Amino acid sequence: MSNNAELFPKIISHAKEYGFIFQSSEIYDGLAAVYDYGQYGAELKKNIREYWWKAMVQMNENIVGIDSAIFMHPTVWKASGHVDAFNDPLIDNKDSKKRYRADVLIEEAVQKIEAKIEKEVEKAKARFSPFDEAMFRSTNARVVENQTKIDAINTRFKAALEANDMDGIKQIIIDLEIVCPISGTKNWTDVRQFNLMFSTEMGSVSEDSSKIYLRPETAQGIFVNFLNVQKTGRMRIPFGIAQIGKAFRNEIVARQFIFRMREFEQMEMQFFVRPGTEMEWYESWKQKRMQWHIALGLGEGKQRFHDHLKLAHYANAAADIEFEFPFGFKELEGIHSRTDFDLKSHEEFSGKKLRYFDPELNESYIPYVVETSIGLDRMFLAILSTAYNEEKLEDGTTREVLNIPAFLAPVKVCVMPLTKKDGLPEKAREILDVLKYDHITQYDEKDSIGKRYRRQDSIGTPFCITVDHQSLEDNMVTIRHRDTMTQERVAIADLPKLVNSKVSINEVLKQL
Ligand code: GAP
Repeated sequence: MSNNAELFPKIISHAKEYGFIFQSSEIYDGLAAVYDYGQYGAELKKNIREYWWKAMVQMNENIVGIDSAIFMHPTVWKASGHVDAFNDPLIDNKDSKKRYRADVLIEEAVQKIEAKIEKEVEKAKARFSPFDEAMFRSTNARVVENQTKIDAINTRFKAALEANDMDGIKQIIIDLEIVCPISGTKNWTDVRQFNLMFSTEMGSVSEDSSKIYLRPETAQGIFVNFLNVQKTGRMRIPFGIAQIGKAFRNEIVARQFIFRMREFEQMEMQFFVRPGTEMEWYESWKQKRMQWHIALGLGEGKQRFHDHLKLAHYANAAADIEFEFPFGFKELEGIHSRTDFDLKSHEEFSGKKLRYFDPELNESYIPYVVETSIGLDRMFLAILSTAYNEEKLEDGTTREVLNIPAFLAPVKVCVMPLTKKDGLPEKAREILDVLKYDHITQYDEKDSIGKRYRRQDSIGTPFCITVDHQSLEDNMVTIRHRDTMTQERVAIADLPKLVNSKVSINEVLKQL
């Protein structure tokens, strides 16, 4: 297996070469941070979506799903705080004309100083034995100096962010002597706040038109429908509303392939609870969502929690589930205790009551909300990057295989006649005609069986079924397993049951 630095570009080119992900509008040289899903990507994405939907909606009788519009009344985004506060601090380098997120420049500079400290510690560790690390960190002059610098910067940075002090942020960039990676100069503009929402005009006549936004999160579609769903579904607290849909953010530093996109898909659930019980539900949803990830079997230690120290204005607790991507541990999902901030604010802005009458307490209140929010594209990247493997085989060749969990694989079965004649294609198609009602299948008669296996390995097909001359006599076929490459002879009549059991989502759902 290649090391991580080599791995990521390979995954990106594999995704393109095998029809998983293409750059948007590629024939026009693409559109930055926007991607299209190809024939296999669309299937994998659909299967991940289904896993989430079934786990959240189908398996929980107190959670229902909706599908709200992307366009919403502009006041929604005023009430949610996105018009005023959904900003990134940006800075331009006057020489290279390149734009950067000022906070990212500072964070990267701090990381470099941290790396220096770690290098110093590692060097000392190798030199001294026994080694008292805590003592070394608190007494070594260079380490102490750098740590003091980091602490001071972090304190100033936090204060500047909280006070919305853009001059203060610029001063940190100057003090840290950060240079533009392209021009190498420190010739910076002032730092400005840049709103991440895309806007457009609604209305056919310009005088009548009003500015509306492409939603930056799906959650607000749930909040504004809270009472509609509660009343029409006769929902009793605690209950949840789930939704999957597109979201749009004008990300300035859009990078790492589909990790940070300008158009992406979210899978969000708002769980409405009695005020005062939110911390219990927050802890419970943290564990449930972690179990959803673990049940995929992507590998031990691939996920971890990261509790937020600095909370958003609406939250009283928040944590990320981070995943070990090829470029390190990064946020994959957020679990937030959002208090009653959103419903309360929508009440104020709309003038409509958004309260729940609790029959047990005989009183009305604005429920508190625990949110789970995961990016579908990020989940796709987590699965694809873990599934991609290069295996050295005994014959000295390397096989590229996607070990995607079978229930998520884009194609479940490929049926292959050993030759193109003697009635084998017809027999293969008979099998296909049975399996295709339950699964996405393929038929392949071109090239050697070995080459056909490799093609299926590359797209992650868990089973290949080969029909040979013997099959015409005994109605048995060879089934080849993707991960182990083992083969077994099975009766054609047993195939539907065998394949169904191996690709069933139910076994995974039972682990939740
Ligand atoms: N409603 C809460 C919310 O939107 P968030 O942390 O901003 O919270 C939730 O986003 C999840 O959406 C993230 O954990 C990530 O998986 C995904 N996400 C956010 N921005 C993204 C982007 N630009 N590209 C891809 N996924 C993104």
